[in-house]
Amino acid sequence: MKNGKIPNPNTIHPIVGYDKEIYVKPTIKNPNIIVGDFTYIANSDFESHVSHHYEWNGDKLIIGKFCQIASGVEFVMNGANHQMNAVSTFPFYTLEGWNMEAPTMSNMPLKGDTIIGNDVWIGQNAVILPGVKIGDGAIIGANAVVGSNVAPYTIVVGNPAKEIRKRFDNELIELMLKFKWWDKPIDEIDKLIPILTCSDLEKVKAEIRKLVE
Ligand SMILES: CC(C)(COP(=O)(O)OP(=O)(O)OC[C@H]1O[C@@H](n2cnc3c(N)ncnc32)[C@H](O)[C@@H]1OP(=O)(O)O)[C@@H](O)C(=O)NCCC(=O)NCCS
Repeated sequence: MKNGKIPNPNTIHPIVGYDKEIYVKPTIKNPNIIVGDFTYIANSDFESHVSHHYEWNGDKLIIGKFCQIASGVEFVMNGANHQMNAVSTFPFYTLEGWNMEAPTMSNMPLKGDTIIGNDVWIGQNAVILPGVKIGDGAIIGANAVVGSNVAPYTIVVGNPAKEIRKRFDNELIELMLKFKWWDKPIDEIDKLIPILTCSDLEKVKAEIRKLVE
């Protein structure tokens, strides 16, 4: 560990003297938001980046470990979606004085939980729409609007976000999904850093193959 310090997932400010980057997990108050160790956001708070997240919908935002969330990223939850199977989308029931009961859940376009994997990098100002599932190791480009699921180790950009390429060949992707480095103890991850950050991917493949077999 560097300078005698041990990375602590329960600290809020992992950069001493800088409050615009926080580990998210220790700041979460909403029980329907679940975030793994060491996931950070480049902002001074996280929950204000989660919108339309109402308890009565019961939808969850689940984010894995070691995700890197840039500033301006927005997680839009199911409460944002208006009823669409009638001639008007106007939400009369939410506004004072209008004579309408809340529509039944089956009449609402609910898309389920939003689930982000581990070691996902989400670029600046990306918007993640309700119910989207993003696999481990994916990269979301700056300003992307992500409305459908993203496979592991895949890069998507644009609006609507579309795949530009896989990050690695299938063999390395399969090895990484077996290896799951993010679930290892902190001291083991620390020792793995030379492999995790090596750009010689054939060498990395050989090393990881040895570790998973
Ligand atoms: C997604 C990203 C990582 C792609 O990097 P890359 O694999 O090197 O991609 P390239 O630069 O080779 O671009 C490939 C194509 O995608 C396009 N593209 C790349 N990023 C894009 C984006 N965010 N939105 C729209 N198009 C994008 C490029 O214009 C290029 O298009 P072309 O093939 O028509 O010429 C990068 O562009 C990005 O968005 N990074 C996010 C940076 C950020 O927000 N950081 C926050 C602080 S941590």
